[in-house]
Amino acid sequence: MRELQDLQQLIDKAVTNLKYPVYPAELYEPIAYILSMGGKRMRPALLLMACDLFGGDVEKALPPALAIEVFHNFTLMHDDIMDNAPLRRGKTTVHEKWNQNAAILSGDVMLIEGYKLMMQVEDRLLRVILDIFNNTAVGVCEGQQLDMDFEVRNDVKIDEYIYMIRLKTAVVLGGALKIGSILGGADMKDAELIAEFGENLGLAFQLQDDIPDVYGSPEKFGKQVGGDIISNKKTYLLIKTLELANTDQKAELNKWIKAEQFDQQEKVEAVTAIYSDLQVRQHAETTMHTYADKAFEALEKINLPEENKQYLRDFADSLMVREY
Ligand code: IPE
Ligand code: IPE
Ligand code: MG
Ligand code: MG
Ligand code: MG
Repeated sequence: MRELQDLQQLIDKAVTNLKYPVYPAELYEPIAYILSMGGKRMRPALLLMACDLFGGDVEKALPPALAIEVFHNFTLMHDDIMDNAPLRRGKTTVHEKWNQNAAILSGDVMLIEGYKLMMQVEDRLLRVILDIFNNTAVGVCEGQQLDMDFEVRNDVKIDEYIYMIRLKTAVVLGGALKIGSILGGADMKDAELIAEFGENLGLAFQLQDDIPDVYGSPEKFGKQVGGDIISNKKTYLLIKTLELANTDQKAELNKWIKAEQFDQQEKVEAVTAIYSDLQVRQHAETTMHTYADKAFEALEKINLPEENKQYLRDFADSLMVREY
């Protein structure tokens, strides 16, 4: 098995070597910009790991791994428009640095470039892999639309939230692992199981990712702290708070949710204070562990040597203890 660091180096080098035309500059510069800002490269790493664990050739799996990363960065570029986000990975977002139209069109071309990379999969497996990629991509769009719909609803339940994050986030982790496993020679049963592992891991990942949006430090987080509160995102934290709040807390929350003109910092501080009073962060962490456990249960059932599974377990654990 290849060391994770080794896989990550391989990915970084390959991302750096992705070259796009220089003209028109407003179309292509944002691609190089967003791809050069770093990021954990978690999705291509999962794809390569899965391929490797089932005995496949990691080098051959590089183009589809890059496809997933380019696709992911396209979703971020559009997500930042939709979320009105000023910062991504510690840098100005594309729509703010250039403009909204540039971010829309660069994103569009990135999606297509992602497909071009995916097309490099050998013919024998191409149809089945494109099918997984398509389902993943449609899932993200559905999840992102629900995320938007939920901003203006105040009766969103936890299970609706889970349904939404499964689509916007978790299916991509599941899809990356499934594609990697098939490239590595896994049978459909194991491919489904590793996707199930990835989806549950993705749910745990998004549950945990909503926490630094409130409690992170601006330097380490790299995104605008409080962004979810400002835009009334129905995160686990907010939904649980609406569930647990007493009459006064509910009135205070509703005041902030309905406010059209407000001081951003004041809103973030007021809502965070209610979150902290009700200890919803702890609830979110407990739920996150429930999904991580579900992920590990699916992993147990995969027909792979214990040592290989431990590798995925260690990676999953490292995702759950991010610094922010
Ligand atoms: C950000 O994903 C979007 C979510 C699904 C939360 P990552 O946290 O994997 O972003 P990068 O690629 O590491 O920056
Ligand atoms: C984004 O979820 C999921 C996708 C990009 C598809 P968020 O909107 O929570 O991600 P961040 O916090 O901006 O990275
Ligand atoms: Mg966002
Ligand atoms: Mg979003
Ligand atoms: Mg977020």
